[in-house]
Amino acid sequence: MAASLLLHLLCCLIVFLLLLLPSHSADPDPLQDFCVANLSATVSVNGFPCKPASEVTSDDFFFDGFTEEGNTTNPFASFLRPANVLTFPALNTLGIAMNRVDIAPGGINPPHSHPRASEVGVIIEGKLLVGFVTTNNVFYSKVLTAGQMFVVPRGLVHFQLNVGDRKALAYTAFNSHLPGAALVPLNLFASSIPNEVLTKTFRVDADVIDTIKSKFKS
Ligand SMILES: *[C@@H]1O[C@H](CO)[C@@H](O)[C@H](O)[C@H]1NC(C)=O
Ligand SMILES: *[C@@H]1O[C@H](CO)[C@@H](O)[C@H](O)[C@H]1NC(C)=O
Repeated sequence: MAASLLLHLLCCLIVFLLLLLPSHSADPDPLQDFCVANLSATVSVNGFPCKPASEVTSDDFFFDGFTEEGNTTNPFASFLRPANVLTFPALNTLGIAMNRVDIAPGGINPPHSHPRASEVGVIIEGKLLVGFVTTNNVFYSKVLTAGQMFVVPRGLVHFQLNVGDRKALAYTAFNSHLPGAALVPLNLFASSIPNEVLTKTFRVDADVIDTIKSKFKS
């Protein structure tokens, strides 16, 4: 009797302690000042191993991948350049990343989600319709111009559409060194998901699925 009461109390204590843990955090906290990733290491656990500190130089902490305008001559008329751990290895374990987003007039950064991060963004030039959808399918959106910001909560499907008459430029930031981007159209129509799954899901004939899939053949 006393033993089962003790067990009960212990369980309550464990649940209580778990509730105290921050549930909002994205990447785990770093365990050292920095850990410049060795991207060619054969072992990766949850992130990348650190390059030896003795081999780290100033250049490791700088990235000039955002200096050039993205080439928007493509079907979405948009270009996204990521500064994440894979392109900027000094971000390893630091829980942050950014993107440069160039969108031509009428272009779109199509619906996608970042499974490991919330996103904030600031418009530098142009006019963007930014929107996201909740898990209850509630849609929130706004047209933004230079200097204005948006936030997209972690994991929610969102997009940016250039509704202006000139090019748009935005920078976005993430609380993960590798936020991941699941593009809805590519996930569904450029992967190996069987056609039967798609015809049944969208309740359309196979030719409709074939037509959509043909748009995403590389
Ligand atoms: C990165 O890892 C590879 C494979 O383990 C190793 O051969 C290489 O020396 C490492 N590079 C640095 C800079 O430590
Ligand atoms: C932009 O991309 C298109 C299509 O790939 C290519 O034809 C064009 O040369 C590129 N423009 C520049 C400035 O690199």
